[in-house]
Amino acid sequence: MAIMKLGNPATGEDFFGRTQELGDLWRYLESDHIRFPGVRRLGKTSILRRLEGEAADRGLLAKWLDVSNINSAKEFVALLDREFPENAIKRFLSDKAQQVGGWFKRIRKIDATLPDAVGGVGFGIEFGTDAVPEWQKAANTLHSRLHDQPLLILLDEFPVMLKKLIQRDRQEAEQILSWLRIWRQSSGSCRFVFTGSIGLLTHLSRQPEGLTLDELSSRLSKREPDPDRCAQRLQELLVRLTDEGYTSTPDGNRRVQFLSFPLRDWWNRNHV
Ligand SMILES: Nc1ncnc2c1ncn2[C@@H]1O[C@H](COP(=O)(O)OP(=O)(O)OP(=O)(O)O)[C@@H](O)[C@H]1O
Ligand SMILES: [Mg+2]
Repeated sequence: MAIMKLGNPATGEDFFGRTQELGDLWRYLESDHIRFPGVRRLGKTSILRRLEGEAADRGLLAKWLDVSNINSAKEFVALLDREFPENAIKRFLSDKAQQVGGWFKRIRKIDATLPDAVGGVGFGIEFGTDAVPEWQKAANTLHSRLHDQPLLILLDEFPVMLKKLIQRDRQEAEQILSWLRIWRQSSGSCRFVFTGSIGLLTHLSRQPEGLTLDELSSRLSKREPDPDRCAQRLQELLVRLTDEGYTSTPDGNRRVQFLSFPLRDWWNRNHV
């Protein structure tokens, strides 16, 4: 029996099972991007590497990117720009013309069943015209270049990056999130998968009916005894969690819940 290197993501023959999950993910990607949070050691990275390996046959040029060492919006945009150079895309389009054709055919079939997508949305909407930061211009150029290419951008450890951005420059963090949100909501053939660990989600997933803000706050207060700081921390968490689509916004009873997305059930099956 092969000895599995503990701590490394499972690749090649070490990777077992997950056939149904992978099939679900591929099917889901035809119509949308995926947010795929989870607790530590769930197997997120292994799944992402697997998607990366299978992507060419599905007509997508894929890159797995660990963004935990990214410290600014500028670095994030530069990373995507660098990892998807124009010549690599061109080569992929000609080498995998048939598979790419298949991908476009599958997503068009789905597009036809959806309400009109918002195409060609401009960015920079949150800035005065005289105050567009440099990274935002690069971000807009990047979006135009990539959004309708057959690409699969697999972003691992996304919450780690986000947390750093929020701490360093909250406005910039919100701007990059809103840029990504507009990208996700506009049409195109490029797909994102966002992965990473959020400890709070463990608590949430155990409660099918969700948790109230007070319950969440009492959990947070174990680590942050100062009530003002605790309240502020809860607010920040909620901004992140709801913006990224992990959870619903609090309802009338101040209750937050997991939004349903494909891997939640899998996650519950495996970890709760
Ligand atoms: N499908 C699989 N087949 C075999 N082993 C797996 C599989 N998925 C995960 N593992 C094993 O479980 C461990 C955790 O996997 P992985 O690193 O992919 O999880 P993760 O969710 O990315 O973890 P972290 O939160 O630490 O980044 C690894 O040792 C890996 O080898
Ligand atoms: Mg991982």
